[in-house]
Amino acid sequence: MVDLKYIGHSAFEIKNGDKAVLIDPLVSINNKFKWKKEPITDILLTHAHGDHLGEAIKIAKEKDITITAVVELATYCQSEGAKTKSVGLGSWINFSWGRAVFLPAFHSSSLMDGRYGGCAASILLDVDGVRIYHAGDTCLTGEMKTIKELYAPQIALLPIGGTYTMDVEHAAMAAKWLGVRTVIPMHYGTFPEIQADLEKFRNLVAFGNTACQILNPAEIK
Ligand code: NI
Ligand code: MN
Repeated sequence: MVDLKYIGHSAFEIKNGDKAVLIDPLVSINNKFKWKKEPITDILLTHAHGDHLGEAIKIAKEKDITITAVVELATYCQSEGAKTKSVGLGSWINFSWGRAVFLPAFHSSSLMDGRYGGCAASILLDVDGVRIYHAGDTCLTGEMKTIKELYAPQIALLPIGGTYTMDVEHAAMAAKWLGVRTVIPMHYGTFPEIQADLEKFRNLVAFGNTACQILNPAEIK
């Protein structure tokens, strides 16, 4: 049974039975999410920016689990004392809960001190046949048509807040290009520069054959 929780911002937990993976774990944004009690076995990071790295290192150390990220970011996490797995873009990586492939994102990636964080990524997960695409931070890109052709994702987690990423119009187009059945918006409302018109997004998505599921982190169970 695959279960997806929106923690807030770009942070998600995807659970498969008694295993779970955290993506971009800015868990400090939601004190209702009790990560200590969750059966988390892995953390995946799309890029190094603080709003995505979140509490990854703390969680990884405390739970003795592995952070998987592109080489430069993994190396940083390792230097901070976490167990890591370095990856590049474009190849399936196997995990206890399923598999994932890191794919392109058009975005920058730097650590807090300005060091290069490696290339930014999006992540496609295959959890018992459920294919979930976490776009990370990115603009709309033609890569999304290729992702549809190669991986046929069913669910897309897309940033809609603009300024640093796609806005609602481009995210609706991304949902179409990815060919997903369901789109879940993320990366909006968290700070002033990324406010989004959810109603407009819902309406734009409704033009395609895609369901828009707006998840409220405050209702997390
Ligand atoms: Ni970013
Ligand atoms: Mn971000």
